[in-house]
Amino acid sequence: MNLKNIIDNREAQIGVIGLGYVGLPLAIEFVHAGFTVTGIDIDELRVKTLNEGNNYIQDVSDKHLRDAVENNKFSASTEFSVIKNLDCVIICVPTPLNKQKNPDVSFINSAIKEIKKYIHPNMLVVLESTTYPGTTRELVAPELESTDLKIGQDFYLCFSPERIDPGNTVYNTANTPKVLGGITPNCGKIGECLYETIVSKVVLVSSPETAEMVKLLENTFRAINIGLANEVAIMCEKLGIDVWEVIDAAATKPFGYMKFTPGPGLGGHCIPIDPHYLSWKLKTLDYNARFIQLAGEINTSMPFHVVDLVRAGLNRNQKSISGCKIIVIGVAYKKNVNDVRESPALDVMRLLVNDGAELSFHDPFVPNIKLNGSQLDGLSHLTEPILNEADAVVIMTDHDQIDFDFIEQHGNLIIDTRNSIKKSSASVIKLGVGN
Ligand SMILES: NC(=O)c1ccc[n+]([C@@H]2O[C@H](COP(=O)([O-])OP(=O)(O)OC[C@H]3O[C@@H](n4cnc5c(N)ncnc54)[C@H](O)[C@@H]3O)[C@@H](O)[C@H]2O)c1
Repeated sequence: MNLKNIIDNREAQIGVIGLGYVGLPLAIEFVHAGFTVTGIDIDELRVKTLNEGNNYIQDVSDKHLRDAVENNKFSASTEFSVIKNLDCVIICVPTPLNKQKNPDVSFINSAIKEIKKYIHPNMLVVLESTTYPGTTRELVAPELESTDLKIGQDFYLCFSPERIDPGNTVYNTANTPKVLGGITPNCGKIGECLYETIVSKVVLVSSPETAEMVKLLENTFRAINIGLANEVAIMCEKLGIDVWEVIDAAATKPFGYMKFTPGPGLGGHCIPIDPHYLSWKLKTLDYNARFIQLAGEINTSMPFHVVDLVRAGLNRNQKSISGCKIIVIGVAYKKNVNDVRESPALDVMRLLVNDGAELSFHDPFVPNIKLNGSQLDGLSHLTEPILNEADAVVIMTDHDQIDFDFIEQHGNLIIDTRNSIKKSSASVIKLGVGN
């Protein structure tokens, strides 16, 4: 039977390589569509945890995972040889930056080397990891074709960017359209046929390069617009205007404007990183991606600006950061998630500690963090005495679970980077609000 038929009747064996924020929800989505799914990860602890039916990704329901394992619809392995028996393999490994802020595609390379050992005719390979335009054709295709199998003839190769938004309760994998581009038209058709089983709409584009660029446009658009909102916040502080009021009023325009809000800086595995993949690629073509560079400068300066606001507030109370008790509220990079990767809260905390602050933090989603090489345990909850004793409270993440009225009532000095405190008060300094 050909690959399309076994996908259509759910007999195709699906494999997902990399079982993190992207891979695990995707694997469970394929189980819901009726497939049997094998997850492959190099992290032995993750594999063991999953095979015991235990979940570690917030966007996956514990029950769904347990049911999938108990019904033998999902299993995990560290053994790449399972690929021999798989029909469709989807790669969801990390694509970080190296120390020089250049793309680190080593995780993709090592996954491809393993696939190459076990690739067989009538198989579909899809790369989902965010990467620069050209990766699928220039990096992945030659390696897999060195096996004598021909793309579009013996096996199929596509790129399909992941658009998952962790913590988003409205949009998930199933109701977010999926962009996909194949190396050949029939690669695209087979890829479309697979993803149609789990998403409401597949947007088939003409090439993997187009699909790779779509993802980078989406995330560069966000990085640049957040950069603009951050710069407007600083402008408003200088002009004595409230940026939050400006943005809310501008957002009443029903066309030609999209609301972005300022904040303490960019975080997560995508927005601070992905635009660098694009600017790196353009540098190899002697082109300087100026918007990306400028947005990067503004966004990475925000943690320093937040510390300046803390310093100004303490100064007003005849205090300095050195020796002061400061509580950071929220260390996850955005609301209602437990992910601290690239979180600007960590930058702010490092700067405060370096300036001699006596630092603590509270985050209902994050029990502890690593700061300057040591573990720092969070405050499990905020009490009146804890807030009273602090010289400053810095709101970094606006989780829904946090009682900001309580913080406003009991904090001596509050630096609010998220517009979480609605009452205006002399003890509150808000990012983007001039005195
Ligand atoms: N997290 C997001 O919100 C998000 C959204 C869209 C796209 N993406 C992109 O998806 C990709 C994956 O991101 P993530 O957030 O899921 O990462 P993650 O760190 O949460 O998970 C990656 C997993 O891959 C495993 N892994 C690493 N190398 C491997 C290898 N060679 N073989 C098998 N497993 C390996 C790791 O152990 C880990 O479990 C990245 O390219 C990212 O840019 C992420």
